[in-house]
Amino acid sequence: MNATHSPETSPVGKALDRVDGPLKVQGQAHYAGEFALPGLLYGSVVNSNIASGRLRSIDTRAAEAVAGVELVLTHLNRPSIAGYDKPYEDDDAADGSPFRPLYNDRILYNGQPVALVVAADPELAHYAASLITIDYEQDPHATDLQAQLEHMKKAPADLPDPRGDAQQALESAAVKVEVQYSTPAEHHNPMEPHASTVHYLQGGKLDIYDKTQGVQNCMRYLEDVFAMQGQIRILSPFVGGAFGSGLRPQYQLPLAVMAALKLKRSVRVTLKRQQMFTFGYRPPTVHRLSLGASRDGQLQAITHQTIGQTSRFEDYTENEVQWSGMLYKCPNVALDYQLVPLDVYTPLDMRAPGATTGVYALECAMDELAYAANIDPLALRQKNFTDHNANEDKPYSSKALMACYAQGAERFGWSKRDMAPRSMRDGHQLVGWGMASGIWEALQMPASAKACIDATGKLIVSSATTDIGTGTYTVMAQIAAEAMGFAMDQVEFKLGDSSLSEAPLQGGSFTVSSVGSAVQKACQELRLKLLDCVQQSPASHFSGKTTDEIDFADGWLFIREAPEHRVKLTDIAAETGALEVEVSVEPGEVRDGYATGTHSAVFVEVKVDEDTGMIKISRVVSAIAAGRVVNPKTAGNQIAGGVVWGVSQALHEETQMDHNLGRFMNHSLAEYHIPVQADIGDIDVLFVEEHDEIVNALGSKGVGEIGIVGVAAAVSNAIYHATGKRVRDLPVTLDKLL
Ligand code: MOS
Repeated sequence: MNATHSPETSPVGKALDRVDGPLKVQGQAHYAGEFALPGLLYGSVVNSNIASGRLRSIDTRAAEAVAGVELVLTHLNRPSIAGYDKPYEDDDAADGSPFRPLYNDRILYNGQPVALVVAADPELAHYAASLITIDYEQDPHATDLQAQLEHMKKAPADLPDPRGDAQQALESAAVKVEVQYSTPAEHHNPMEPHASTVHYLQGGKLDIYDKTQGVQNCMRYLEDVFAMQGQIRILSPFVGGAFGSGLRPQYQLPLAVMAALKLKRSVRVTLKRQQMFTFGYRPPTVHRLSLGASRDGQLQAITHQTIGQTSRFEDYTENEVQWSGMLYKCPNVALDYQLVPLDVYTPLDMRAPGATTGVYALECAMDELAYAANIDPLALRQKNFTDHNANEDKPYSSKALMACYAQGAERFGWSKRDMAPRSMRDGHQLVGWGMASGIWEALQMPASAKACIDATGKLIVSSATTDIGTGTYTVMAQIAAEAMGFAMDQVEFKLGDSSLSEAPLQGGSFTVSSVGSAVQKACQELRLKLLDCVQQSPASHFSGKTTDEIDFADGWLFIREAPEHRVKLTDIAAETGALEVEVSVEPGEVRDGYATGTHSAVFVEVKVDEDTGMIKISRVVSAIAAGRVVNPKTAGNQIAGGVVWGVSQALHEETQMDHNLGRFMNHSLAEYHIPVQADIGDIDVLFVEEHDEIVNALGSKGVGEIGIVGVAAAVSNAIYHATGKRVRDLPVTLDKLL
């Protein structure tokens, strides 16, 4: 069913500005820690400074003696929590038993919250928190992945069965590389720290403004753990970045709820920047790879083992090695994934979890293979292209990766590259060109949406998703406008409220494909319902008309070929009651026969100062295949942001732990290095044509995570090309290069 819009007039595919942009730049967009409430109290969290052991005693007397302090909450006086002794998993939980703040006296990791001080103002709360003294009984701890590798155990992950005989094929391969790479821990560090503002309502119900990627996930978590069915509403109208840090309820949320329940008052808990380093993170990883190929570069064997880390209470897994079995054509593949449990917090999904690290290793190894076989790195990838996902033994619904290679290379000027390292110069700088492929899943989750015409004739569409800065408000309005046949300014999209229609977590780059599909269907059905309403009287001029023959403009419904026959939308709404449609959309069965993914080709130019080893990124071209792009501007922003993060992964970013203390040390934005404007050169994002009728009715796979995948490998490969030196441990800092 086609909407009134033609491809030319449809808002879908247009580089529109964000509909919420004006609110944001005017300071009218309110975040979880900003909502004003009468009588609001403020909590300050006290964190442990040992990694393992127990609390022998906590002395809270000095804190409690501060005038204005209402409560000091510890495991000893917290309210009883019905769900703490029952198994509960949130929507993004790892296998195991989720961390329970203030559960008992055990210390499971350094930085664990052990007390909450609640006071009339935040500074007072922080001051009082500083007066708390703790006597620990300390146990030995182990926090260093590299030092604990012998304690690895098989990760509880679904890995494809081995294909062929990788060992045998390796032994007989004409060209081979056997390499090891390692990547560090990273923390998400969104601009907005985690915060929960709990509004204690009459009768004990709670409205909670929370920084989250899943309002209903947080609602269900609190309902279940606190046995408060139907009494929790989570609101998250704006999120100042998340990148995965908001996929699970974080500890400030239950702490704020405990205090609110105990005091029967409204309470806000905002984490300080340093406390943003006291929960989930991208785990450090070690990768052991072997690639074997024929003399002419045809892959014969791939083995990829990743060793990651996890906590003692959950087994965090991500897709680290699967990519190595699906990106290229290769008959002999063996994949392995191990975890080392340590006295640390459970890692957490961070932008393209698993692919950011796993594909980094694969794509660096591919570059090493290209040099071992003396084949252009791009040609090597083109030679090993496949449109079949051998892990699943299914064809891809679409995979325009060859177009990414061709168009990206053309834009970059790759054909002018000299294969030899140290062959290009710009004064005293060594110039290097590197490239890599990227891959991410194109998932779809069940989702619901509601569409209605309000009293002013406007189309209001809603779903309980969030907008973590990705442009959800904007792209959902575009999809709705197209499906309904409305102008953009006649559409409003509501999100970030757990009382709206069911939506999945905003993550995995699946929001457009999941929620967008529901939005599209709801609007198509509402269009049909409106037509049906005006056809009710037998004399109606609309009798016998189809939805393709009607049009909407300025609050009127009319017949396109005879616009004098028109009805005011508000009149239809007034006569028939609320015109409302709610739909749920499941992923189409047709998807079952196919593998689905987004792909990229990333080309990077680096300039390395020969004397100082300083690395500058001068140019990046990222060519993306992600199906139909709803908004090239917001999607382009996602990719450019991913490129910056990939550069950061390659050159700057790592959370360093002092393993004597078992504690992350560089826990501030001054010491946790990320690129600044001067570190990033020109970023050129291009979306290649990719037509896909299988993924969903929109033909959109979703973007976001694909933007980071492959970037760090392309940077590392460019550094090798510039300098002739392979650094196989991220980030590539001066000390490793010189
Ligand atoms: Mo993303 S790591 O799924 O927020």
